[in-house]
Amino acid sequence: MAHSAVPQPFRASRPAAPLSGTHRVPGDKSISHRALMFGALAVGTTEITGLLEGEDVLRTAAAMRQLGAVVEQTGPGAWRVAGRGVGGLVEPADVLDMGNSGTAARLLCGLLAGHPIFAVMTGDASLRKRPMLRVTEPLSTSGASFWMRQGGRLPLAVRGAVEPLPLDYRLPVASAQVKSACLLAGLCARGTTRVIEPEPTRDHTENMLRHFGATVRVEDTPQGRLIELEGQPELVAAPILVPGDPSSAAFLLAAALLVPGSRVTVANVGLNPLRTGLFETLREMGARLTVTNARTEGGEPVGDLTAEYGPLRAVEVPPGRAPSMIDEYPILAVVAATAQGTTRMRGLQELRVKESDRLAATAAMLAANGVGAEIAGDDLIVRGGEAGIPGGGTVATHMDHRLAMSGLVMGLAARAPVAVDDAAFIETSFPGFAALLNAACGAAAIEPT
Ligand code: S3P
Repeated sequence: MAHSAVPQPFRASRPAAPLSGTHRVPGDKSISHRALMFGALAVGTTEITGLLEGEDVLRTAAAMRQLGAVVEQTGPGAWRVAGRGVGGLVEPADVLDMGNSGTAARLLCGLLAGHPIFAVMTGDASLRKRPMLRVTEPLSTSGASFWMRQGGRLPLAVRGAVEPLPLDYRLPVASAQVKSACLLAGLCARGTTRVIEPEPTRDHTENMLRHFGATVRVEDTPQGRLIELEGQPELVAAPILVPGDPSSAAFLLAAALLVPGSRVTVANVGLNPLRTGLFETLREMGARLTVTNARTEGGEPVGDLTAEYGPLRAVEVPPGRAPSMIDEYPILAVVAATAQGTTRMRGLQELRVKESDRLAATAAMLAANGVGAEIAGDDLIVRGGEAGIPGGGTVATHMDHRLAMSGLVMGLAARAPVAVDDAAFIETSFPGFAALLNAACGAAAIEPT
């Protein structure tokens, strides 16, 4: 299941025809990880439809099997998880390898902290650089013990708590992964776990906990958003419909905004308001972006999104919007390169600890293709304009799927083709990316080199 160790260089060129048609993108990555994990903790059998079958999520599926759940694929995107009940996971016989996935690794830390078992976790070279203390510190207060490399890096070993204590934690950073790790540990503890987040972050964990029958209270306080979870609930298996991933739809929609004459619809996209900061920003830039068929499915808002090519203007993106579009800055930076004026995206410090240092890598991606970009403190500044994107450069992707996809979308709009050094990591979140974009423009605009 590991992506090829051999880099897969790709190139994208301006298509002869605009992008058109109605398309679907793979299932939401955040919801897919959680569906497998909560399914493993529930009593009964959880049927999942629309699961993202990307490498990150398949790592979570493998880990849940190692922890004793029965996880099987029953059809394309259709999965069945026979759970073990809260507190019922078993000690894994081997190392848990979470590949490229920070979400899988951090959420799993929470899950393991609440079980009286010993486990070792590792990941690929990108994940082994990412900070884990942000989860292990609060989780240690439950009684779990963690051992890690210098600076809190993977591999790590954990011995979960025998009698886990509820957590009471104020997150120093806005992170849905840290919040979710705390709530997962809190499931196994007797009493009420309390988490306060400085800014609201994606709430798929809270939604799914309720969907499985847990009691979760959410309240906005002067200190931030307070989430309270009653420990040791019986989670009862419930069907899960995973919507299309808005973070994946972003690439197709951005391509339509950038290639003259395009009009594309992405059907069945998750529109959780804590995920839609990019769409709000694009509208502020003057993008023609509309939602139709808005509905609620499986507790999450869903709709069809249509994007149409047109002129765009620069904007300032406030720091408070970062949690709702944290994964979308690289593709927004590409869009900003074609907008009239200078776009400033503020408060992007969290981008430094993603699959790569996305702040530096995004600025470098633009600079390598003739676009004026600079980093000022924690802000990214992109100089757009009539000249558009010259292109002709190579994007260094640093094992980061979103940089690879952003670079390729940039190539569709640039005057000269854009190369990316390694597109293999796109498999972590968006299997079929190149084929889908090529189908939308009716040509092999994105191809291996
Ligand atoms: C995620 C939370 C975000 C996001 C990641 C998925 C999640 O990370 O970048 O792709 O599913 O909880 P942080 O919690 O580090 O902001």
